[in-house]
This record gives sequence, structure tokens and C-alpha cells, in this order.
Amino acid sequence: MASYFRRIFRPVIREYLMFIPEKKSISGLFKLILELLKPGALIYPDIVCVLTTHCSLRCAHCNNLMQCYDKPYHVPAEEVIEDLETLLSHSDRCMHLTLLGGEPFIYPDLYKVVEAFRNHPKIGCLNLVTNATVIPDDSLLDLIAGAKNPRISVSDYGVRTQKVPEFLEKCRKKGIHCIHDESKNWVDPGGTSPRGKDIPTLEKEYNGCFSARYCRTLLKGKLYTCARAASLADLGFMDGAHDSFDIRKPRTDAEFRKELREFLTIDYADACNYCDHARRIIIPAGEQLES
Ligand SMILES: C[S@@+](CC[C@H](N)C(=O)[O-])C[C@H]1O[C@@H](n2cnc3c(N)ncnc32)[C@H](O)[C@@H]1O
Ligand code: SF4
Ligand code: SF4
Repeated sequence: MASYFRRIFRPVIREYLMFIPEKKSISGLFKLILELLKPGALIYPDIVCVLTTHCSLRCAHCNNLMQCYDKPYHVPAEEVIEDLETLLSHSDRCMHLTLLGGEPFIYPDLYKVVEAFRNHPKIGCLNLVTNATVIPDDSLLDLIAGAKNPRISVSDYGVRTQKVPEFLEKCRKKGIHCIHDESKNWVDPGGTSPRGKDIPTLEKEYNGCFSARYCRTLLKGKLYTCARAASLADLGFMDGAHDSFDIRKPRTDAEFRKELREFLTIDYADACNYCDHARRIIIPAGEQLES
């Protein structure tokens, strides 16, 4: 129960208060609390969906390890849509769906995924995170602007190829709520080799990590404990079995909910053994690799 409160209950309330402006009311909050307390309830603070491992930048310390993909790929839109539909069909609500990559605006089928989820009854807010190297065309921005609570977070690394002012201006003209993320600091996640941490250390780190609560990440039919876990498993640096939930495995609704709730409240993630986040080593955001 303590981990349900820490990993689901509290983060869901936080996301509701932060991202769903028109629904912020005492009665809405009360209804959400009752929903969260129902046995078997499945409500997510956020689902992060990886659309592509292609990126237009090469950040040396990308937490999501995009710089490690020798053969980047796009996840077919039909797969993304089917997996998200399956997940949502067995769930009550998701406060916040985040589409990213890599770079989401180089994903050729972004419009298909946006179209499928922009007004989904179980999603409270559609969010995209971008490096603003690609300016989307009007029709895509119009589609995003018509979503329920659309939001784009623009990461400004000060890299020459970024077009941040142009991107922000174009999105704001369409009425899309944009966040200009000018943070100069990142946390160094370190390399991809195992650190030999014991289980109590993994538990402490996992429970203390923001990503463990807000970045459950969908990649190729599996929901992972965080975005780094998804890439570590996908790239073969670790066995992802412990840190993932296979959405495509056939189950009844009751089985799906029970197993997913268990997964969402696990005590630790293997991925933290391949990550230095807990050391809080601050590095400059978005430093680029040569070539
Ligand atoms: C992996 S990026 C994908 C979206 C897009 N390519 C971008 O850079 O905004 C998603 C988010 O992770 C953040 N991020 C990546 N590596 C990080 C790190 N080492 N420390 C903190 N944030 C990081 C980025 O700044 C961005 O806000
Ligand atoms: S942080 Fe974003 S821009 Fe940088 S490599 Fe990772 S996905 Fe690409
Ligand atoms: S691997 Fe662990 S410490 Fe690193 S970002 Fe994921 S949950 Fe956090």
C-alpha cells in the first residue's frame, strides 16, 4: 500500500493539479481520489511513449541513450496505436500521455499517433517533448492544437541547429501551450555497464528517483520502469524482464490489472544498476558528441 501511495496515488494527484487546468476543482479532485482508492484501479500519472530512436542531435549524456543506437528505427505507428489502445482498454485513466523519441518531430507518422490519442476519453493531456530542430508543418500543429490540453516542452540546449524561437512562436500562434525548457543542468547518468549495486541500494535509488514515478515508458509492446530502462533493454545492455510489463501477453482484464498494478509498485529496478542518477553529478545539458 505504501508503494501504491508513493508511485501512483501521489503522482497522479500531482499531475492532475499541474496539467489538467479546466478540471481542477474540489469535486473533480474528490472524484479522482475515490477512483484511485477503488480496488484494482489503474490510473497513470504519465505514460511516456517512444516513437523513434532516430534523433537530430547527438547528446553525449542522453539519459535515454539515443547516442548508442547504431541502427536507429521508427516504431510503426500501427504498433504504437495498438499497444496504447490495449493498455488504455485495461486502465481507468492516464493523466498525461507524453510522446517522444529520440526526436518526435522526425517521426514520419506522428500525425497518425496524435490523431489516435489527441481526444482519447481516458487521457487528460497530450504532451510532446522536442529539441526544436524541426519545425512542424501547419497541419500537424493544427492537429496537436485540437487535442485535449495540448502541451509541447521545448528543450533548449543552445545548439546551433536548434530553432527554438521560431518553433515557440509558431506553436504559440496555434494556441498550443509551450514550455521553453532552458535548464542548463543535466544529471550525469554515466555509462551502460553494470555497477554491482545490491538490492537495498537499488530499492533506495529507485524509490528516490523522479523518473521511476513519472516516466513509465512504452517501447515495442512493453511498459518499462523508466525511459532509460527501455533503452538499456532494447539495446541489449541488460535483460529487461524484471523492469518491464509485456502488454501483448494475452490476459483477461482482471489479470492485466492485477499484474500491471504489481509491476507499477515493484520495489526496485535493475536499470538503476546501470545508472548514476542517485549520485546527482551535474553536467551541462545537451552537450554534443563530435561528428
Ligand atoms: C530524451 S529527450 C527526448 C525528446 C527530445 N529529443 C529532447 O531532447 O527534448 C526527453 C527529455 O529528457 C531530457 N534528458 C535527456 N538526458 C538527460 C539527462 N542526462 N539529464 C536530465 N535530463 C535529460 C531532455 O532534456 C528532454 O527534456
Ligand atoms: S536528449 Fe533529446 S536531443 Fe539529445 S540525444 Fe537524447 S533524444 Fe536526442
Ligand atoms: S535507471 Fe533508476 S535511477 Fe536511473 S533514471 Fe531510471 S529509475 Fe531513475
